[in-house]
Amino acid sequence: MSNIWNTLPKPFLILAPMEGVTDIIFRQVIAHAGRPDLFFTEFTNVSSYASDKGRANALERLEIAPTDHPIIAQIWGKDPAHFAKTTSALKHLGFAGVDLNFGCPDKNVNKTGGGAAMIRTPDLAIACLKNAQNSTDLPVSVKTRLGWSAPAEYQIWLKTLLEQSPAALTVHLRTRKEMSKVPAHHELIPDIIKLRDQISPDTKLIVNGDIKDKAHALALHTKYPEVDGFMIGRGVFQNPYCFTDHQPTREELMELLKMHLNLYEKTHSRVLPYEPLKHFFKIYINNFPGAADLRAKLMDTHSVPEARKVLDLWYN
Ligand SMILES: Cc1cc2nc3c(=O)[nH]c(=O)nc-3n(C[C@H](O)[C@H](O)[C@H](O)COP(=O)(O)O)c2cc1C
Repeated sequence: MSNIWNTLPKPFLILAPMEGVTDIIFRQVIAHAGRPDLFFTEFTNVSSYASDKGRANALERLEIAPTDHPIIAQIWGKDPAHFAKTTSALKHLGFAGVDLNFGCPDKNVNKTGGGAAMIRTPDLAIACLKNAQNSTDLPVSVKTRLGWSAPAEYQIWLKTLLEQSPAALTVHLRTRKEMSKVPAHHELIPDIIKLRDQISPDTKLIVNGDIKDKAHALALHTKYPEVDGFMIGRGVFQNPYCFTDHQPTREELMELLKMHLNLYEKTHSRVLPYEPLKHFFKIYINNFPGAADLRAKLMDTHSVPEARKVLDLWYN
C-alpha cells in the first residue's frame, strides 16, 4: 500500500489541526479557496471512540468530505488499548494516515494525561505510539512540542519519538509552558534536522509555529531544504487563501463566508448551534473599509438566515 507521506511534493503544506476550527465545514471552504497538500482533522479522543456512549460523537468528528482527501485523522488520549482500537478503524473510514497528538497544552486535556502531558510520561507515549503502529498499515505520525518547560528538552523528547520511526513528526516549535505566547523557535530547526537525520532519516520532518502563508513556508524551505513540510495554523485566520499566492478580494472573502453559511446549514442532519459559527466571521470580514461595522452587525444575528439578510442589505 502506498504511504501518503511519500507521495507529497517537497516541500508540502498542511493545514494545522485546530479544534473548533478545522472541521468538515471549514476544510471544504479552504479546499475551495486553495487547498493545502494535506488536511488533518481536529483531534478526536480515543477513549470516546472506544466507548459505546462516545462513539457516535467521535465518528461525527471523523466525517470527511470528498474535497478533504488526502486527510490524516488526529487522535489523542492516554490509554494504549484505546489508541489501538481507534487506529484500527481509521483506514476503513477513508483516512490516509493517523496522527497522535502529544502537544495540546489545554489544561483539561493535560489533566487527563493526554496531549502535551505525554511529554512527561514518555514510556506511556511510546506505548500509545507502538499500539497505534501495530494496529494498522496506515502510516502513523506524531505532532508535538519541543518539551514541557524548557526548549532544550527537545534533545531527549524528540529523540525518544524518532527512535520509534514515526512516518512523520510535526514539531510545533514551542514548549507547553510557552503556549503560543513567545515567537516559535525557528532557530532550532537546524538541530532538529540533524536529530532526524541521525535517528530516523525516513521520518518526514514538518515544522510548525508562526508560519504565515505559502510564501513564508517557501522562504523557510530555501533556508532549510531538509525540512519536508510546513504546517500553517493561525495564518489561515489572516488569509484563508494562505496556501496560494492569491490575495483575495473582498468579494471573494464574502463568497467564502456565504459558502461557510450554506455548509453550516446542510452538512449535518442535526441543527448545529449558531454561536460557534460567529468565531469564523472575522476570518472573512476583515481588512476592508466598513469591515468592523459589518462584523458587529453579524455578531448580533441569531441564525444563518439572519446573517444572510445582513450580508444582502450591506451589499445593496
Ligand atoms: C483554536 C486552535 C485549536 C487547536 N487545536 C489543535 C488540535 O486539535 N490538534 C493539534 O495538534 N493542535 C491544535 N492546535 C495547535 C495548532 O495545530 C498549531 O500547532 C499552533 O496553532 C501553532 O501553529 P501556528 O503558529 O501556525 O498557528 C490548535 C491551535 C488553535 C489556535
